[in-house]
Amino acid sequence: MPSKKALVRRPSPRLAEGLVTHIERGKVDVGRAVKQWEAYVEALRKHDWEIIQVDPADDCPDSVFVEDTVVMYKNVALITRPGAKSRRTETIGVEEAVAAVGCSVNWVWEPGTLDGGDVLKVGDTIYVGRSGRTNAAGVQQLRAAFEPLGARVVAAPVSKVLHLKSAVTALPDGTALAHIPSIDRPSLFPRFLSVTEEAGSSVVLLGGNKLLMSASAPKTKDVLTDLGYEVITVDISEFEKVEGCVTCLSVRMRGLYA
Ligand code: GLY
Repeated sequence: MPSKKALVRRPSPRLAEGLVTHIERGKVDVGRAVKQWEAYVEALRKHDWEIIQVDPADDCPDSVFVEDTVVMYKNVALITRPGAKSRRTETIGVEEAVAAVGCSVNWVWEPGTLDGGDVLKVGDTIYVGRSGRTNAAGVQQLRAAFEPLGARVVAAPVSKVLHLKSAVTALPDGTALAHIPSIDRPSLFPRFLSVTEEAGSSVVLLGGNKLLMSASAPKTKDVLTDLGYEVITVDISEFEKVEGCVTCLSVRMRGLYA
């Protein structure tokens, strides 16, 4: 079986100060968030993901959203330059973690900005959101890093939500799982299943027909179960209060060492 590794990062005690851009700020219970994060990590572990913990960044409120700091394609880890200045130092520690598992490391440079939450991979197609966090130079640098390795990069405008993956992820067969009201250009996705719950558009592919998703999208869970998927839910309410979702809590690496 190809190896499955997931990078995760323990929540900062300052999580409640995390950035909020498109929603009302809610009161975050950090103790509850830590328990929810532990359950999330356990769900990955239970489905054969080897967990790699990046050193915590306690001074960075949003550091638990480790997916924003690195984009993986084949054996290359592209260390991002997060669009929010307050998040820039989060990349420290991630670089060491990906190098330690044997990835080649590349970087996004100024003036580029790129958040991993804007990057959706569907096979060798890489959709990248041009959002409030990812700029045109970031899109170009992603293209320059990965197209020579065989990827096709498709840029998508994102204005209604924080990141591209706040509104769309992909099912194992490549169908986009999409909350259409949150997407600027749905027509960029050749085949999509629309869902009525925004949190329902975010799934982590656990392997086979198993999906991990937020407990806050029960109608979407029913739709996906009815389509034959095995859906595992986790309560991530404290992270949703600071615009997090199931994807941004980990970086999944599949088959790098197969
Ligand atoms: N709170 C997550 C972010 O704004 O990046």
